[in-house]
Order: sequence, then structure tokens, then C-alpha cells
Amino acid sequence: MTEIIKIFDTTLRDGEQSPGASMNTNEKLRLAVQLEKLGVDAIEAGFPAASEGDFQAVAEISKRIKTCEVAGLARTNKEDIDQAWGAICHAAKPRIHIFIATSDIHLEHKLRMSREEVLRATVDAIAYARNFTDNIEFSAEDASRSDRDYLCKVFEAAISAGATVVNLPDTVGYAVPEEFSELVRYVMAHTPNMNKAILSVHCHNDLGLATANTIAAIQAGARQAEVTLNGIGERAGNTSLEEVVMAFKTRRNFMPFETAIRTEHLYPTSRLVSMITGILVQPNKAIVGANAFAHESGIHQDGMLKNPMTYEIMRPETIGISQNQLVLGKHSGRHALHTHLKGMGYDLSDEELSVVFKQFKNLADKKKNLVDEDLEALVTEGVLRSAEVFSLEYLHVTCGTTVLPMASVQLSINGRSVKDATYGNGPIDAAFNAIAKLTDAKAELLRFTVSALTGGTDAQGEVTVRLRENGLVALGRGSDPDIITASAKAYINGLNRLEYLKAHPVKASQTI
Ligand code: KIV
Ligand code: ZN
Repeated sequence: MTEIIKIFDTTLRDGEQSPGASMNTNEKLRLAVQLEKLGVDAIEAGFPAASEGDFQAVAEISKRIKTCEVAGLARTNKEDIDQAWGAICHAAKPRIHIFIATSDIHLEHKLRMSREEVLRATVDAIAYARNFTDNIEFSAEDASRSDRDYLCKVFEAAISAGATVVNLPDTVGYAVPEEFSELVRYVMAHTPNMNKAILSVHCHNDLGLATANTIAAIQAGARQAEVTLNGIGERAGNTSLEEVVMAFKTRRNFMPFETAIRTEHLYPTSRLVSMITGILVQPNKAIVGANAFAHESGIHQDGMLKNPMTYEIMRPETIGISQNQLVLGKHSGRHALHTHLKGMGYDLSDEELSVVFKQFKNLADKKKNLVDEDLEALVTEGVLRSAEVFSLEYLHVTCGTTVLPMASVQLSINGRSVKDATYGNGPIDAAFNAIAKLTDAKAELLRFTVSALTGGTDAQGEVTVRLRENGLVALGRGSDPDIITASAKAYINGLNRLEYLKAHPVKASQTI
């Protein structure tokens, strides 16, 4: 018999804990709408007590999302639970997600609490949260390194107090599949009231085993998988949603599990996550990497032409990679653009469409055929990044073998135009120097990468930067047919994200 597995997506919470991957409210809202379209069962929208920005974003998502549950994370204290409820109370299906560590190493060195105290804190927190909702998830942080019998005792108490989902996180990505599935079986067998709750798993990828551990746990009886798109998350990331879902779909004969995910939205959602966070997907990433369906060797290509099943275990269309992409160009009108963007999942207002249409025309003057990746970039830059502090108004660069590279830049800073010019080691250095001068930026450039958004020599360049200032790290992303302009846009985007982080500080005591 096929079993239904719930997909709990934590891209917006654990995924956002990827270094530099902070998102603003607009971006999170857009991603939440896409996750709803993808068909996830629950969206963990954030950790409302962590910062004002998180609270605001979770509240906006709660107001907008209708079909999925919306979860807010909280520690076991009342203030966190109040904040979580304050943000998710607008949701059609709210869930409070309470967590506390259960491993001795965390109890002794981090929490400085005894096992008894943690047990009491768990029960008290769940009882308190039940004043607001009956939909409560409890997570035993570092469960995979916790004493098994103590873990079962905490789960039993959590379920008795009213938790409807209990979650087993492999917080530090330490478990291996056989051990993790055995833990699931042990917990199911030794938690007397386990039949009154759903058992969930949440894996990290430090040993590259997150997907394998999650699948092993589901085979052993867990019925909720906590995942992120592209596997983004703290350190080496979380279990990747697309890997688990496609493993079930592709190997149903071996794993009779079904999810509500509409797989044809996997690739567009993966792209959106990458666009918004600035975290590029590695080319050889399973399912959604650029090479996942590329066949290089002649023997493979020959086999594919004769029958794709020779070397392909999934069809690209199944995950939403279109083989016949509709191409738009400079003669395409506003209506055609609107309809096409709608098909891609962007339902823009009239005002937003005007912004994107203007940029679309500009780009179409430089590049003949515009495909989905080009349009995604236009929407990301034109709409999702509204209300930013810095924006590029003008860039002029001179460079070559016989001249000193010079850049003249005009920026809008909070709506006021300012301009300056300076030189550098090369054209990008000159542009960055001019921008830094105008913005008074002190950020250190940690990483700079350039790639092409699509194929072809007229492709847009895609640049990502990683910036650090006073311990805050932000990623920036920019695209343009001109690589120097793309670099300037990426740098400015990174500076804007730093401004956002400065304006929405994580409360020091609230870090997980
Ligand atoms: O990894 C972890 O333990 C977590 C919990 C908060 C669920 O993210
Ligand atoms: Zn986690």
C-alpha cells in the first residue's frame, strides 16, 4: 500500500541560515507562494523571535498562504511562543514549532540544564502553546546524539502535553542511514503514545548523507520529511526536497511512498531559490543541477537518440525543464510577457509589469531571444528587490591595454542621486571602488563568481559576490549582458542585503 509522506519545507527558516542567504520580506513572500504552488504540506516561514524582519516576513506569509500549514519556530520560553503565535495567527493552518536540545553535550555545554529541567521545559512550553493552537510540532534538537531512552521519555511527555508532530533532527549531520533508521524504529517502539503523533525527521548534510538518512528514516516508519530546496541550509545544508521526492517517484516499486509535490514545479522553484538567495546550484547537483540531464559521452548520446531510457531514469519534463522553451523577443508585447510570466508563476500587478516590461524591452534590444532564465532575472531585479537603499542609475567604464581603467558611477541612495568616478586595477575593480566611495562601504569582498545565465555569446552574465562587514555576511547577485554591469549590480545587491541585516539585527540571545 502506498503511504503518504508529508513534506515540511524549511527553505525559509533553516535554508535562510545558509551563510549570507538572508532574504527580505518581499523575496520570502514570493518564495512562499511558489512553495504553495509546488504542493508542500507545511512551510516553515521563519523564527519570529529572532528578529523584527523575521517576524514581519512570517506574518506576511501567514496572511497570504491558504493551502499549506505555516509554521513559526520557537524555543521553549513563553516570549518565543508569543512571538511565533503573533506572527502565524493570521494563517489558515498555523503550526507552532517548539524545539529544545536533548543530547547531553548540548544540555551540559549550551543549555546548562539537567535532563529533568529540559523535560519540564518541553511540557510547559507545549502546554502554553496549546492556549493558541492544537497544531504543535516538537523537535528534540541533536536527537541523533541523544540518549535513546531519554529521547523517548521526552517524546512521550511532549505527545502527552499535546504535540501532534515529534521531530528527530540529525542536527549536526552525524548519523549514517542504518543507524538513523534503527533510531526511528527504536523511538517508535519505545514511545508508548507514538501512535498519537506523526514522527518527523530533519537531517543535515555534513557527511553528504542527509537524503540517504531521510529516506532510510521514512522506510523505517517516519511520515514527515523536513527539507529545503537545493538542499540549502546551515553549514553543508539540509536534506534536499527534490532529491527525496524524485527518489520516491522514480523508485516507487522499491519505496511505495507518495508526496503531494507537483514535480513539474521543482525546477522553476529551484531556480527561484537560487535567484533570490544568490546561492548557485552546483552543476552536478542531483535533479536540478545544470548537468543533471546533460549527456556528454558519444556512446551515451547515441543511446539517448535511440531511446532516452538507455541513460535517463527521469524525464527532464517531469521536474519542469522544458525542452521547447517559448522564446520572447523585441517584438513581443506587454500582454505576451504578462501571459508568459503568469505561466512561470509570476502574477505581477500592473505597476510591477510596467517595471519588468521596460527592462524587458531594454534587454531585448541587446539580446535576440529571451528565455525563462532571462525573465526570472528581470523579475528578481525589477520587482522583488523593491525599496532598496542603493540602486544603480548609470555606469560608464573605460578600459583596455593602454588606458588606466576608470569607472563613473551614478547611484540612487534612498532616492537621492549621487555620482563619482575613480580608477582601479581593472574595470570591475574601478566600478567597485566608485560604488564603495559613494556608499561609504566598508565591506570586504570574500568571493566573486561569474557565469552565464544561458548558452550563447549574447547570454547575460550572472555574477555573485559574498561580502562581509562587522561579522555580517551577505550574498549579492546581478545579471546583465554586460559583465561589468552585472558585477556592479551584484555588488550593490550585496550592499543592500548588508543594509537589510544591519536594519534587522538578529537579537544576540536568539540565535539557535
Ligand atoms: O537542525 C535542527 O536541529 C533544527 C531544529 C531547530 C529543528 O533545525
Ligand atoms: Zn536544522
